[in-house]
Amino acid sequence: MLRSPIKSEEFASRRNKVLKALKGAVGLVMAGNGAPPLRGAWEANSDFFYLTGIRDEHGAALLFDKSNPDPKRRVVLFLRPTDPELDQWDGFRAQISGTLRSQLGIESIMRTTYLPRMVTGAAARAKRVACLHQFANYGSPASPDLAVFRRVCETVPGVAIEDATNVLPSMRAVKSRSELAQMRLAAAATAEGFSQAMGVMKPGVCERDIQRALERGFEDAGATRPAYNSIVGAGGNATVLHYMRNDEQSGENDIVLIDAGAEVGGYCADVTRAYPVSGKFTKEQRKLYDLVLQALDAGIRAVKPGATFMDVDRAARDIIDKAGYGDTFVHGIGHHLGVDVHDPQTPDKLAPGMVLTVEPGIYLQDKGIGIRLEDDILVTAQGRTNLTKAIPRTADEVEAAMRTARRRNTRSK
Ligand code: GLY
Ligand code: MN
Ligand code: MN
Repeated sequence: MLRSPIKSEEFASRRNKVLKALKGAVGLVMAGNGAPPLRGAWEANSDFFYLTGIRDEHGAALLFDKSNPDPKRRVVLFLRPTDPELDQWDGFRAQISGTLRSQLGIESIMRTTYLPRMVTGAAARAKRVACLHQFANYGSPASPDLAVFRRVCETVPGVAIEDATNVLPSMRAVKSRSELAQMRLAAAATAEGFSQAMGVMKPGVCERDIQRALERGFEDAGATRPAYNSIVGAGGNATVLHYMRNDEQSGENDIVLIDAGAEVGGYCADVTRAYPVSGKFTKEQRKLYDLVLQALDAGIRAVKPGATFMDVDRAARDIIDKAGYGDTFVHGIGHHLGVDVHDPQTPDKLAPGMVLTVEPGIYLQDKGIGIRLEDDILVTAQGRTNLTKAIPRTADEVEAAMRTARRRNTRSK
């Protein structure tokens, strides 16, 4: 069973918090279904991972039922039955035992065969069930807990379905000390990746070679994997916001945009930098770069407890608007960051412990220039800390770091 490096006690306290927030309503968090794919790995729903630390148990579920007369059964983890034939294909799975209970810090673990009976019993007692999973958009199948609750309502009269969809986003938004420790490790691994990527930059270099160096750097520094598909776009490719082909050669004077992050212990970094492939910005490139950096810094300064994403967005956008490039800054200023690279948004104001990205950009398709700069910012009681400031940011720092990285790269050959 793939587990998080965070201690089981912390997961137990997260589950207790959910139990309290449900105020007596029954809640259900499902890991999701699907067999392990041949490419990539099957992965549990992020809310399930956040509450259990378990990544790889498809079909698993977590039931919250304050009405259960047995205090040990107020939070129950359900795992699919073991199957020796399937396990031969996908890996051997743990038996339910005292060892597993203590490893996971969960007193009550059952097989999913008991889930329908337990959910129905809980709903019949509590008469209230509450949706923790985000609602699906209409046109898509209902979210997994709502789908179950609707069926329960068909067989148990008088059960009300409530909305608790903000409980987990609000909890996940504020990071604990141990989550922040993983996020700092992710930021450090990302810094190593960007440093190795700078080392291979030269006119004509292929985007793929930069990506390889970048991701080798992540891995060298202990990352599990890239947090999302790395974007390495040279010249006009940098104006494509989610460019990920990464298979073209750079030109002589291109700016190469890298938007990438390492994942460590289940937590993501998400950083963007823009490099002159030659090692030196042209005058025009430097002017645009400085403008985006100014917008980034203004956005970062607006991050503080009580502020909103809108405040941060306005601070950065004003600068780009005033310089006449407002129409090219076509995306939002940022998002929460954590287990997911796009952690769930909440209506909550910024508060200490939240981590968000700030990522203004200018995209000039006619000139083949795209510049976005993105840092990961922790909200603190005093204001903010930039978790990714070690990755060179100013035009001078970038040029100097590129010289050092290339020298190091030539020497090691
Ligand atoms: N790399 C995705 C984003 O910056 O949101
Ligand atoms: Mn990004
Ligand atoms: Mn981002």
